[in-house]
Amino acid sequence: MGAGPAGLTLALLLLREGIESIVLEDRDRDYIERRVRAGLLEQNTVDLMRELGVGDRLAREGLQHDGINLRRPGCTQHIPITELTGRHVTIYGQQEVVKDMLAALLDRGGEVQFEASDVGLHDFQTEQPRITYRAEGGSCELRCDFIAGCDGFHGVSRDAIRAGVLTEYEFVYPFAWLGVLAEAPPATGELIYAWHERGFALYSMRSPMISRLYIQVPADEDIGQWRDDRIWEELQVRLAAEGWRVNDGPISEKGITPMRTFVCEPMQCGNLFLLGDAAHIVPPTGAKGLNLAVNDSRLLAAALISWYRSGSRSGLDAYSEAALRRVWRAQDFSNYMTQLLHDLGRGPFDRKLQLSRLEYIARSQAAACSLAENYAGLPAEADF
Ligand code: FAD
Ligand code: DHB
Repeated sequence: MGAGPAGLTLALLLLREGIESIVLEDRDRDYIERRVRAGLLEQNTVDLMRELGVGDRLAREGLQHDGINLRRPGCTQHIPITELTGRHVTIYGQQEVVKDMLAALLDRGGEVQFEASDVGLHDFQTEQPRITYRAEGGSCELRCDFIAGCDGFHGVSRDAIRAGVLTEYEFVYPFAWLGVLAEAPPATGELIYAWHERGFALYSMRSPMISRLYIQVPADEDIGQWRDDRIWEELQVRLAAEGWRVNDGPISEKGITPMRTFVCEPMQCGNLFLLGDAAHIVPPTGAKGLNLAVNDSRLLAAALISWYRSGSRSGLDAYSEAALRRVWRAQDFSNYMTQLLHDLGRGPFDRKLQLSRLEYIARSQAAACSLAENYAGLPAEADF
């Protein structure tokens, strides 16, 4: 269920082992290939894409970064991620990941049903789950061994699991990110995460010609209040450094993303498994969402392959526990980064604590190392 990063990764991993799957997606191909979202890939994600044979364009066009900058007025501190961890991060847009994975899947004979509507999940606590849906004007029924719910936070998979089976942990922040994509060469080689009295700002990019920028805004902000010139003015203020300016240019896309943190446990019920945003949402500071989704697929694929090869359910039974270890680590880190850099509305005492924490990261190798290790992502072997 779902042709996002989680569903496509899983389908590719299974196809490589000759295990048949059908991806059901409620949108059309053009829509999912254009949806602008995350942009930062951990080394684990890049390694897996390479291993799956979908890493050629990523190798050519991805921007490999060795560090990030933490900025506050009057001070920019560089965190040398690669020097501290031996690992890189890579900038490559999520829609490019989706395009590359989808093209490879279809090229290799994988099946994707776009515009599948009215999806219903049935009998997943038996050995023959069924999915009913409508596509191309008709009603369809699919009988299968397993269902992978990769249909995002607003999909139907999580809700299909009877209330009372899942425990949900949720917190919604009283602010959001206003994100823009601009035709402007980035004025920085590496990302800048900025603390500012007026709120957080992030300078990211998609290519040497395209910038991706975010500013913290109130949760209920009306995007109509943000004309392009106001966005650029606010970015110049929050990202300011002496003798340096944000490069502006035409804005091609803008949107507001709410900041939520959410986990449901367990991430499975019978033969229905939840992956990616269907099971967990992290606040975006630290860019873990897409990487967690891909990691869930790696774990579930290994368990399914083992089941088809040996008939052993032990990997499947342990899926949720294994996935949740990384999920909670990423939750802690994403919430830490969020609370380090945003105006949480808790007053000046809290702001002083944030500045002290930033100074501590600048002065302590141990603090910088901990941040770098979490940012780069722990090696994949750590999950088994
Ligand atoms: P998704 O990518 O959401 O894929 C789910 C798929 O399922 C979609 O294609 C959807 O159309 C489909 N679907 C939904 N319902 C059904 C249904 N009933 N039947 C069939 N198919 C269905 N993360 C970051 O790290 N950094 C960011 O800057 C960032 N920005 C984001 C901005 C937005 C607006 C959003 C929504 C998310 C953002 N994220 C970001 C999070 C990141 O993009 C997600 O964590 C990632 O997409 C998760 O992948 P997924 O495959 O689990 O889910
Ligand atoms: C991007 C998004 C993030 O949430 C982040 O922490 C870093 C980069 C991005 O979209 O480029």
